[in-house]
Amino acid sequence: MRVGVLGGGQLGRMLALAGHRLGFTFRFLDPSSDAPARRVGELVVGDWSDAGAIERFVSGLDLVTYEFENVPASAAHRIADETPVFPPVAALETAQDRLCEKALFNSLGIPTAPYAPVSSLAELEAAVDGVGAPGILKTRRAGYDGKGQARLGTARDTGAAWAALTQGASSAELIYERFVDFEREVSVVGVRSADGATAMYPLTRNVHAAGILRASFAPDGDGALERRAHAATRAVMERLRYVGVMAIELFVVRDASGASTLVANEIAPRVHNSGHWTIEGAVTSQFENHLRAIAGLPLGETSMVLPGAHAAMLNLIGATGPLAGTLAIPGAHAHLYGKQEREGRKVGHVTFVGTDPRVLEDRVRASAELCGQRLV
Ligand SMILES: Nc1ncnc2c1ncn2[C@@H]1O[C@H](COP(=O)(O)OP(=O)(O)O)[C@@H](O)[C@H]1O
Ligand SMILES: [Mg+2]
Repeated sequence: MRVGVLGGGQLGRMLALAGHRLGFTFRFLDPSSDAPARRVGELVVGDWSDAGAIERFVSGLDLVTYEFENVPASAAHRIADETPVFPPVAALETAQDRLCEKALFNSLGIPTAPYAPVSSLAELEAAVDGVGAPGILKTRRAGYDGKGQARLGTARDTGAAWAALTQGASSAELIYERFVDFEREVSVVGVRSADGATAMYPLTRNVHAAGILRASFAPDGDGALERRAHAATRAVMERLRYVGVMAIELFVVRDASGASTLVANEIAPRVHNSGHWTIEGAVTSQFENHLRAIAGLPLGETSMVLPGAHAAMLNLIGATGPLAGTLAIPGAHAHLYGKQEREGRKVGHVTFVGTDPRVLEDRVRASAELCGQRLV
């Protein structure tokens, strides 16, 4: 199986590392000659609009997938004319636009934060009036790791938030959403095959700081909540006729009676950072399952690696820290992506698997301290 991957980041690198065991070979398309996947497959360097590079990339491949969700849909369509592309390009297009994502969730009866589309400062003022404050103004497209977002405490902040996201332009494609007063954040990583079979990983609790995922813990432990989150993910996958791994990020909100409700935030049409723990913590990793799904192979089991097992993952952001020190922490599995260290950049992660979630939290805290990583 010769697999092409649009994007050559760490997600592509981990896809290839999983795929090599199945005998698959990989080719990546990325604008950067320094892309982390260059060590694990052939790298075609080119811009998303470079027809020549796309031609060289696609030649001789059996199928194409992506690890980067902001690949222009036009490039994906051009490739899909020649070679099967999974997940379907229509799913990619929905997940590229926060407005389409929220409309999709709502059409399936999955609650989201109240929101309104915004394309001018006057519309932002009306949106804050209608939706309420505090809230977050976000670019509809291309945001990641909290980039392309401005928080509004009150209606007085509209001018500053508009200026922060538009650099003074008079119109832009934005969305304003009400701030969700969540108790915790969770995500579902799920996989669907072309024949409609699905498998869901245990619900994962995620810790973010400054808009970036810092740590993940699985399983979250609330069985009833997990069933609802899995059902929502299945519904989204069915609607999109999805093939491959998808992640849905959700907020858990506790209402006045103490009951937990789920509020959907966004879809990632690809393998997801909150599923990195599955490499060591689940029977089949998200990376292998994505490849199985797109190659038409049977899906692998998504349960924890052993009954009663727990997993915890710490992101290494900005700098990897001392590898020898990390590896001296009992049970540490370090994954370094081979990227230049830069502030705010994901350069690696560390996973722990065990039976006592408190021990795993302690180990995550110890490695965070060692590597200078913030957890709140
Ligand atoms: N409406 C909201 N209410 C509360 N927190 C939010 C809201 N939207 C985003 N956040 C916080 O910011 C983080 C990043 O925002 P998100 O919409 O997931 O964008 P990104 O594409 O950057 O991941 C979320 O995981 C959450 O911690
Ligand atoms: Mg997110």
